[in-house]
Amino acid sequence: MENQLIYNTIEYIKSVFATDFSGHDFFHTMRVYKMATNLARQENADLQIVQLAALLHDVDDRKLSPETCENKDRAVAYMREQGLPEETIALIKEIIGEVSFAGKDSVVPKTLEGKCVQDADRLDALGAVGIARAFAYGGNHNRVMYDPEIKPALNMSKEEYQNHISTTVNHFYEKLFLLKDMINTRSAKAIAEHREQYMKEYINEFMDEWEGIK
Ligand code: ADP
Ligand code: NI
Repeated sequence: MENQLIYNTIEYIKSVFATDFSGHDFFHTMRVYKMATNLARQENADLQIVQLAALLHDVDDRKLSPETCENKDRAVAYMREQGLPEETIALIKEIIGEVSFAGKDSVVPKTLEGKCVQDADRLDALGAVGIARAFAYGGNHNRVMYDPEIKPALNMSKEEYQNHISTTVNHFYEKLFLLKDMINTRSAKAIAEHREQYMKEYINEFMDEWEGIK
């Protein structure tokens, strides 16, 4: 059973994501929350910090809320409303700032709590759900699934990654297959390996079908 603060935060998240279909939906946040909770227990991290940061990690996302992204205004305002100490607010704000994938400019979170949240967010881009999210995102952004003429771009900086337009299959090579080696915690590593393996099998099947092989 969640405590009152976590319960309130879940209700807040529900209202924030009520109208978003870009892959940053309420259920993405809830999966990250559940996974981050499991990782925090296994890694002996501070559960309340991890849970709050996981729940609030996308409310000021660059794609969803570009004007509040820099200072995490929505997350901070929400935490102040809930009467959290400024110290806790600053810590959670820092964790949220570290979470995003940014090509070779991605950061390793400073705290164990940040590592759990970043791992949970990345795990949600992998596996069966990760495949579904990638194609949903591609459709939402009018991208083609695959075009053999367009090669993946590797080693991108944050700016290059954020401005890059490509195919959804290329996204697997430009981001998704890089995530496993960027995982911070041992508990998440094993899950990432399993999910990546599943995705690689999926891409192999996709290519065989593309060529009319089986
Ligand atoms: P996160 O919530 O993990 O920080 P992003 O904001 O980068 O993720 O993306 C949300 C989801 O959309 C992820 O599952 C990601 O893999 C997918 N996605 C992001 N960019 C692309 C893209 N160019 N093509 C296909 N899927 C994408
Ligand atoms: Ni996220």
